[in-house]
Amino acid sequence: MALRNTPDSFGLVTRLLHWTTALLVIVMLSLGLRIADMEPGLANLWLYGLHKTLGLTVLGLILVRIGWHIASPVPRPIGGPGWDHLAARAGHIAFYLLLIGIPLSGWAGSSATGIDVMFADRWVVPPIAAVSEAGEAFWFRLHDIQTKLLIGLIIVHGLAALKRETAGDGTLTRMIRGRTKD
Ligand code: HEM
Ligand code: HEM
Repeated sequence: MALRNTPDSFGLVTRLLHWTTALLVIVMLSLGLRIADMEPGLANLWLYGLHKTLGLTVLGLILVRIGWHIASPVPRPIGGPGWDHLAARAGHIAFYLLLIGIPLSGWAGSSATGIDVMFADRWVVPPIAAVSEAGEAFWFRLHDIQTKLLIGLIIVHGLAALKRETAGDGTLTRMIRGRTKD
């Protein structure tokens, strides 16, 4: 089973990174919406910790993914260039920008509260914003807006993938099995 991408197929590494990130992001969105609705307290503090740890993990995975894309470029779009491929490409770039921007705004907002940001309940992550109530409000507002944009993008991206697959071009099959057919 090929680890690297080829001009026509997705290798195992890209597929694993895609589906692991997709799963984590969906878990993170539900977790985030849940904690934003809660009064922080001793009983639920661990959920905040989990959200921060998984969120920083997503940031790490995205950086690995960018590095891997440079080392092993993704295959050509199925069916050659066209406006829908340009739109898909713009969507993929928007995913990368949001999946870097969202963890950073969450990290900055959490730093602004003055409470240590911990990774895996064990390591203190350095603050990236000064402690301030105005800063906290700003970064969390941005975090909220970015996550709403991400939800919209996931819906459009998922529906576009399903539409192309049902039209028979094998787009989704290629992201699951690597190639459009055996
Ligand atoms: C891909 C990564 C992430 C996703 C998808 C995500 C998603 C979300 C969502 C949907 C919310 C609710 C927004 C609202 O309705 O106001 C939220 C809130 C929150 N996020 Fe994240 N988040 C991510 C990363 C992070 C990181 C890395 C941190 C901190 C290190 C963080 C800290 C927080 C905190 C503290 C809240 C609660 C804010 C409040 O009480 O208003 N998030 N997140
Ligand atoms: C939930 C978060 C998701 C994110 C962040 C995401 C992100 C991406 C990105 C950035 C790419 C471009 C290839 C790459 O850079 O690795 C991609 C490709 C793809 N995604 Fe997703 N995706 C998500 C969910 C989904 C879902 C739910 C589906 C299916 C229903 C899906 C189907 C695909 C397919 C089929 C491709 C390949 C498109 C092509 O061949 O050009 N993705 N995704």
